Amino acid sequence: MPVLTEDEIRFFKREGYLVKKGALDPELCARARERLWDNPPLSFKKDDPDSWIGPIKPEEESLDKSNYKRGYRWQYRKVGREPWMIELLAKNPIVWGAAEQMLGKGNFPEPKGVRGIYCTLPYGDVERAPRHLHVDAHPFNFAVVGYIDHVPKDGGGFTVWPKSHRTFFFDYHSRYRMEPTPRVEIHKARFQAREENSYQTHGEPGDIVFWHHRIGHMASHNYSRQIRKAVLYDFVLNDMPRLQEEPPGDDIWIDWSDDVRDVPIGDDA
Ligand SMILES: [Fe+2]
Repeated sequence: MPVLTEDEIRFFKREGYLVKKGALDPELCARARERLWDNPPLSFKKDDPDSWIGPIKPEEESLDKSNYKRGYRWQYRKVGREPWMIELLAKNPIVWGAAEQMLGKGNFPEPKGVRGIYCTLPYGDVERAPRHLHVDAHPFNFAVVGYIDHVPKDGGGFTVWPKSHRTFFFDYHSRYRMEPTPRVEIHKARFQAREENSYQTHGEPGDIVFWHHRIGHMASHNYSRQIRKAVLYDFVLNDMPRLQEEPPGDDIWIDWSDDVRDVPIGDDA
């Protein structure tokens, strides 16, 4: 049985992202929530939400990439190499099955790790700031964000600018590399002009978001009282070294499986 229905593939193609509720194993999500506290900023107390408010105190910062702590970011990457974390996200049957469906079985490598646990700390009592999008700089085909804890509305959920992949894809000289044409900035400004153009995800432990490599997105501001905790993984075709030398051309789905290519988008934009 395929993991994604035709309607889900259509949604992903049209909007550039897709939410699947309750995809991750609840026990592995709980384990990730526990392990986050292996080596927290010194003044953070696991059972005291008041102690989690950012920014991290300058004397508690760590620029060590394996457990990066600075500002409102806390990225516990070291744990991402452990086998159970790979089972939690990349090799989760829904995630892996969706990737095989979208990129084709055997066309991308077995995972050696996932990006780790990425946290956005609560901002505390601050004025709300506008949303700013970016497009990722490294070459990949699509990525998955998984929530290991409750993410309330305005709680730092992954935010996308739906349909923007269908604009940005054509705005680079390379199909995958970060070689922008001047159109990127023009289109960024247009998408950002109204907050309604963006969609902020939120949800429960186990919910995941797939997103296209050229979609405008951000790890949004966290106005909740809790730490936004997500796990991340990127899917990259084996053929990427060759594909990234190519220009975008006129078909955004050229490198995807027939399962994806054959589904009509359902609008004429
Ligand atoms: Fe990003």
